[in-house]
Amino acid sequence: MDAILQIENLSKRFGGVEAVKAVSFDVPRGGLVGLIGPNGAGKTTFVNLVTKHDSPDTGTVMLDAKPMHNLPSFKVARAGLARTYQKNRLFFEESVAENLRTAMIWGGAAKHEGLRYPGLQGREEERTKELLDFFALTPQRDSLPSGLSHLHRRRAEVAQALALAPKLLMLDEPFAGFSRDEAFDLIEHLRACQKGGLTMLLIDHNMEVMMEVCEYLYVMHHGALLAAGTPNEVRANQDVINVYLGAET
Ligand SMILES: Nc1ncnc2c1ncn2[C@@H]1O[C@H](COP(=O)(O)OP(=O)(O)O)[C@@H](O)[C@H]1O
Ligand SMILES: [Mg+2]
Repeated sequence: MDAILQIENLSKRFGGVEAVKAVSFDVPRGGLVGLIGPNGAGKTTFVNLVTKHDSPDTGTVMLDAKPMHNLPSFKVARAGLARTYQKNRLFFEESVAENLRTAMIWGGAAKHEGLRYPGLQGREEERTKELLDFFALTPQRDSLPSGLSHLHRRRAEVAQALALAPKLLMLDEPFAGFSRDEAFDLIEHLRACQKGGLTMLLIDHNMEVMMEVCEYLYVMHHGALLAAGTPNEVRANQDVINVYLGAET
């Protein structure tokens, strides 16, 4: 496998809780890979460790064979590893277009001129237009996040994460609170991103949608990897069945 992301032995303990236990895993280049597990399994902590929003106790993270675990989170993002958050992190006082620009400033792709927003110029303007168009958000470009529908807000969050044209995007619970139709609206956009060369790691506890969408799945439980395989393999795995049916907790 041509792995774009290689994770070895990642661990994190919070006091008495082993939130992530010696997790090793690869993500193939161009893949749409899933990470599932019940609430509290350690999925968000895992994303935080990979993106350096939190520091691992042990382990290494390599993106395109370059170490990420020694870098601060903004450098990890600049290196091409982007994420979305379980909780909305759009800047509430900025329009959708300004949110994209802020991401570019933070990522070092745009000039920051004090606290003023001088408006989008050149490449940033082009990239913003492209993203707004791609996510069908052009009519909302000047709206504040609070004025957006749930679905439009989620699309804006993904657009913001893609502002720096990352190599790999990790999405933490992107379908939370969505109907099936809304989930598949977002999935259509993600599939189009995949065609454009983006690698994705989707994190969700919605088994049904994840089984349908992901090419390969990792399953976490109590901080550790419980299973890995194609959706059919995971569906037939007795350990996974036990955890999801609550036979073993
Ligand atoms: N900052 C923290 N401090 C203490 N415990 C935490 C912290 N973050 C997560 N945990 C604990 O780690 C475990 C995994 O949490 P989390 O990664 O959020 O799981 P998931 O995203 O799969 O629902 C839980 O038991 C949670 O309470
Ligand atoms: Mg979580």
